[in-house]
Amino acid sequence: MRQKIVAGNWKMNNDLEAGKKLALEVLEKSTGSEKAQIVLGAPFIHLTTVVEALGGKNGIEIAAQNCSDKESGAYTGEISASMVKSTGTNYVILGHSERREYFNESAALLASKVDIALANGLTPIFCCGEPLEIREAGSMYDYVKQQLTESLFHLSAEDFAKLSIAYEPIWAIGTGKTASSEQAQEMHAELRAHLATKFGQEAADACPILYGGSCKPGNAKELFAQEDVDGGLIGGASLNADDFLAIVNSF
Ligand code: G3P
Repeated sequence: MRQKIVAGNWKMNNDLEAGKKLALEVLEKSTGSEKAQIVLGAPFIHLTTVVEALGGKNGIEIAAQNCSDKESGAYTGEISASMVKSTGTNYVILGHSERREYFNESAALLASKVDIALANGLTPIFCCGEPLEIREAGSMYDYVKQQLTESLFHLSAEDFAKLSIAYEPIWAIGTGKTASSEQAQEMHAELRAHLATKFGQEAADACPILYGGSCKPGNAKELFAQEDVDGGLIGGASLNADDFLAIVNSF
């Protein structure tokens, strides 16, 4: 059976105290026997504090929201994958549409980030998803498959087996407009079939594919009930511990 994962993406919200408080609240309200792996995607400067606060309790994992494609050196303002790993963080969100759009992250750059994350022992949650005009034109499957081809298809089978994918239709992010469970299922199945053409059916079947985009306690159950939806990448609702855990418990 595929691993179920529900990851929060806090984005650029909360100062350090508020981030720590939120993490501790998730810890207090979780039981450790949730059906999904819980991951909290915190800002870089929160990582050490949040990792220490949770102390590996209840199996909760922490994610960075990005990392550099460079190993180390004169790259002012950048944070490397090895720095992230050294805080005790084990996951990294890569290729979020906000990074692609606002920080011009290209498919080639993301391929390098995936490589360097894996080389440093981080588990990438690789994001993909189409803008509204592509959905309306009906070319969303080709568009998203190409994102996977360009940034992941150079990986060895061994490395591919370590990562997860998050499908986030851009038109559903922070808009309150969720993809229907049918739309999510169709896309996830298409992506899994595409992954199988490169890595084989067994490897594709083992890859967790999460859904992201206005996922809330009220719609998570139906989304997670879909055969190829293996959890969620949660933005806004992850900033409230009760809402986030209600989503986690929607399996
Ligand atoms: O990465 C999570 C995301 O972009 C979805 O955000 O606020 O629509 O849940 P939101």
